[in-house]
Amino acid sequence: MYKAIVITVSDRCYKKEREDLAGPTVKQILIENGYDVNSVVIIPDEKEYVIDVLKKSVEDNINFIVTTGGTGFSKRDITPECTKEIIDRDVPGVAEYMRLKSFEITPRAMLSRGLCGIKNNSLILNLPGSPKAAKENLEAVVDTLKHGLDILTSKSSDCAR
Ligand code: MTE
Repeated sequence: MYKAIVITVSDRCYKKEREDLAGPTVKQILIENGYDVNSVVIIPDEKEYVIDVLKKSVEDNINFIVTTGGTGFSKRDITPECTKEIIDRDVPGVAEYMRLKSFEITPRAMLSRGLCGIKNNSLILNLPGSPKAAKENLEAVVDTLKHGLDILTSKSSDCAR
């Protein structure tokens, strides 16, 4: 069973001005897909917080690190930039596919700058911040990512299907 963590990046949720609905939504989807979800962490859109929790999650060998929020155009949205500082390998196809599937739902999908990348034994995935958008994006890729994690953690080298 792969370990996962959900990180909600939102000033409003952090200040308790808004209930975090995206984090629990993402957690539920991960559990349904067989992940052991440690926790949902809520942090503000602050570079030091985002970098810190990503770094610590990688050090803790959490295989699937999923962020929600901070991928848009607001001046405070910096989740992809922080993710870029942590990863050493980009996985562009995952973000491309999330957006491709999302375009079937809304052209606003183009407004998410979320990305996906690898650091050590961890895969980091950025989802948008609304529960609806987070769900739609994650559900597009969650099944295939299991195979990616099998290869990353050397459980499989078989790409036959
Ligand atoms: N993707 C899907 N599938 N469904 C959505 O409703 N909303 C978009 C986009 N991606 C959306 C989506 C919108 S309106 C925005 S602004 C961006 O995600 C960025 O969201 P964030 O700033 O909350 O991370």
